[in-house]
Amino acid sequence: MISGHRRLRGMINVQGSKNSVLPVMAGALLTEDKVIIENCPAITDVYHMQKVMQAAGAECDIENDIVTVRSGMLKSAPDEEYCARFRASSLFMGVFLTVCGSFVMPYPGGCNIGSRPLNYHIDGLRSLGAVVEEAGGYIIGYCRKLKGGSYEFPYPSVGALENIILAAVCAEGKTCLTNCAKEPEIVDLCDCLKMMGADIDGAGTGTIIINGKATLHGCRYRVPGDRIAAGTYMAGAIAGGNICLRGIEPERLTAVSDILQKMGCHLFTDKKSNEIIVMADGRRRAVTSVVTGPYPEFPTDMQAQIMSVLAYSGGCCDIYDNVFENRYNAAGELVRMGAVISVSGGHARVCGRPALKGARVCATDLRCGAALVIAALGADCT
Ligand code: UD1
Repeated sequence: MISGHRRLRGMINVQGSKNSVLPVMAGALLTEDKVIIENCPAITDVYHMQKVMQAAGAECDIENDIVTVRSGMLKSAPDEEYCARFRASSLFMGVFLTVCGSFVMPYPGGCNIGSRPLNYHIDGLRSLGAVVEEAGGYIIGYCRKLKGGSYEFPYPSVGALENIILAAVCAEGKTCLTNCAKEPEIVDLCDCLKMMGADIDGAGTGTIIINGKATLHGCRYRVPGDRIAAGTYMAGAIAGGNICLRGIEPERLTAVSDILQKMGCHLFTDKKSNEIIVMADGRRRAVTSVVTGPYPEFPTDMQAQIMSVLAYSGGCCDIYDNVFENRYNAAGELVRMGAVISVSGGHARVCGRPALKGARVCATDLRCGAALVIAALGADCT
């Protein structure tokens, strides 16, 4: 329940990155030692991850923002019910192949934002010598010992790359991965794995080389701030506000900052102290287009939130989501609030209005929910 006509004001420490902590938690199973992960966000996916790990036989404790993992004698068939609840459960494929030599996984769940196949995950694991098959709603994989190999991603998929990295760090020999995703979350995963003793070169670039190690060891790793959560606060403030975000590397948000600045928002960044100050007033200008793509392009995970901002702007904008081509769930809900948005031919056209009105709306997926909160902050609720 949100009362509109609110300005955001104040300072907030941005929570740890959701898309970094999940693969890092999976990676913690690759050593018998204890792995301590700091700055973990208190979000459902982290608790789902914990449940899957515990059901598989690992110790996974959460106290405040610290997750402590100790792998054990793992069962290679993780809990079906929890796996089916979130997308990141697919990351266990590479880990279970390494630790157990096999896995039986149901298809993962996750936000309904378009078709989310696993063919690159499967092909990549096959290139490391695993046999992977799909049968009866399950993905089944096994191998005697993973071996280094090479794989060129047809598209720079984040999750598939994480899976293959998690499989390759303990494989026998050298792995060469090309057309890799360059998202900061890939760098975060590799930073943690390197702290555990992995030999990885090129994280954050299109080519990653991994020399497999027989064993990894424990470490203490701090998850960086969540660039999408930060971008969401920034989008909320552009409706008129004055906020300071702490604990976020400004360079991770360049594409988002560029668009918000073009829309009339004042941003001040401090790279040394990892702070972003956002100041906005008056009506937003429209940009002519927003096009999502792999990092460093504009992130698909910020597309719905920017749609809300554009719904109040003084012009029209075309939004093209080139990562998940049907990710326009927020449009229909924003229209209930009086927004002028049409979706056709794989893109959304938003024509801004001076005001939206309160309505009963549905958060159809995670980022759609964030977008609706942003829209509601400025809505007329009488
Ligand atoms: C991750 C993020 C998600 C973000 C997305 C894109 C996590 C937990 N989730 O999702 O928040 O929106 O990256 O930045 O980190 N694809 C295939 N076959 C595959 C894998 C992917 O065709 O095997 C396609 C997808 O359908 C999509 C594109 O590749 O069109 C990118 O998807 P991908 O990067 O894999 O997204 P996720 O890892 O699922």
